[in-house]
Amino acid sequence: MAQWTPSTWRSRPARHIPDDYPDVGRLCAVEKTLKGYPPLVFAGEARRLKQRLGDVALGKSFLLQGGDCAESFKEFHPDNLRDTFRVTMQMAVVLTYGVGKPVVKVGRIAGQFGKPRSSPTETRNSVTLPSYRGDNINAMPFTPESRTPDPGRLLKAYGQSAATLNLLRAFSTGGYANLRYIHKWILEFVNGSEQTRRYQALCDKITDALDFMGACGVTPESTPQMASTEYYTSHEGLLLGFEEAMTRIDSTTGQWYNTSAHMLWIGNRTRQLDHAHIEYFRGIENPVAMKIGGDLQGDELIRLLDVLSPANEPGRITLICRFGHNEVVEHLPALARRIRQEGRHVVWSSDPMHGNTSRTVGGYKTRRFENILSEVKIFMQILQGEGCWPGGVHLEMTGQDVTECLGGPAAMIREEDLSSRYHTHCDPRLNADQALELAFLVAEELGTYRKEEEQRLAG
Ligand code: PEP
Ligand code: CO
Repeated sequence: MAQWTPSTWRSRPARHIPDDYPDVGRLCAVEKTLKGYPPLVFAGEARRLKQRLGDVALGKSFLLQGGDCAESFKEFHPDNLRDTFRVTMQMAVVLTYGVGKPVVKVGRIAGQFGKPRSSPTETRNSVTLPSYRGDNINAMPFTPESRTPDPGRLLKAYGQSAATLNLLRAFSTGGYANLRYIHKWILEFVNGSEQTRRYQALCDKITDALDFMGACGVTPESTPQMASTEYYTSHEGLLLGFEEAMTRIDSTTGQWYNTSAHMLWIGNRTRQLDHAHIEYFRGIENPVAMKIGGDLQGDELIRLLDVLSPANEPGRITLICRFGHNEVVEHLPALARRIRQEGRHVVWSSDPMHGNTSRTVGGYKTRRFENILSEVKIFMQILQGEGCWPGGVHLEMTGQDVTECLGGPAAMIREEDLSSRYHTHCDPRLNADQALELAFLVAEELGTYRKEEEQRLAG
């Protein structure tokens, strides 16, 4: 295969990367500045995540990946970060307990800004402007100035990502994630909901177990794993100019790592074999994920894996399936069978969001919670039936009390409620209550497999 450098992608066709910056010289200057900025993550952390995902690929752990569809400058606030972190922690408790395996936690956070859009332009009242493409490219207001790409936004996004990561590191290692505080991770607005009651009941059991262990001398002081957690970052590696600037040689191994996030994924619209994104991703050592939808055939998937994961190292590749609740049954079984026959190591993860998006009468982009649950459940059943481990979920979710997805548990959201707290900068997210219900569903389903396996082993 041809020589790779962080910039070889530039000679390939690229989709969804803006080419309408009015001042290309300024863009180059910003990319040069970024090259001199400190890495956001350390290569050793990305290697450790790859090991953790290797365990997921081998069926020993579960991957929970989630966060905003698009982070924004406007919604940047420590409370929002805390709420996303704590709903993730709550879900991880439910999953760890129910599935009986470690949960690898990865945020769509600290760099998830740039968006591929279905149309490059938007028309309102017969005025046509470039579409909004994420806060690191242009701005949401429908004016020519706002929609013009501005390279300075890349620097602002870098700064926000650094501050976000700093707080996330503090939450995960500074005491907040101590298992002794699991009761405190409950978000006020869901207090009293059915999901919160179930969560509290689980916390009571865990706290009893911790008391017992404490009496035996095993405490958060003696066992640091109980006092902190590992929380990793990820985003779609869409804007390759930015990603190139953040790609550095790791002094420990001499290999290239993307240092803007621990894990990056290739979007469903940018995974053409001979295009720029695949070229860029083949050269970095980070764990990488790829979104897959109904248009992908088995042969092409195998060719993509040959390029992206030639060593077939468990943990290197996560396949994020986003077929839609009606279509998953049509596409997933053949792909799962093919991967198994070929002996490829992959993490199978379900994104039940992007194949289930629709618009309401009021014009809001939304998703039905029942369809989301249904896709995850079918995904797990199909993979289990094919002898593969349904290793993870990939969610657009927030710890905030938003009204973006229809239906759901306690505070059932109806079409007329969407407008009340619809804050997303792109796609609709699960709110904390919906996210927790989904975690209970996955835990129950995988808990059944666990019992079946135990019975089988007991003969
Ligand atoms: C996303 O994850 O926000 C996204 C754009 O997904 P996909 O590439 O699967 O359409
Ligand atoms: Co999205």
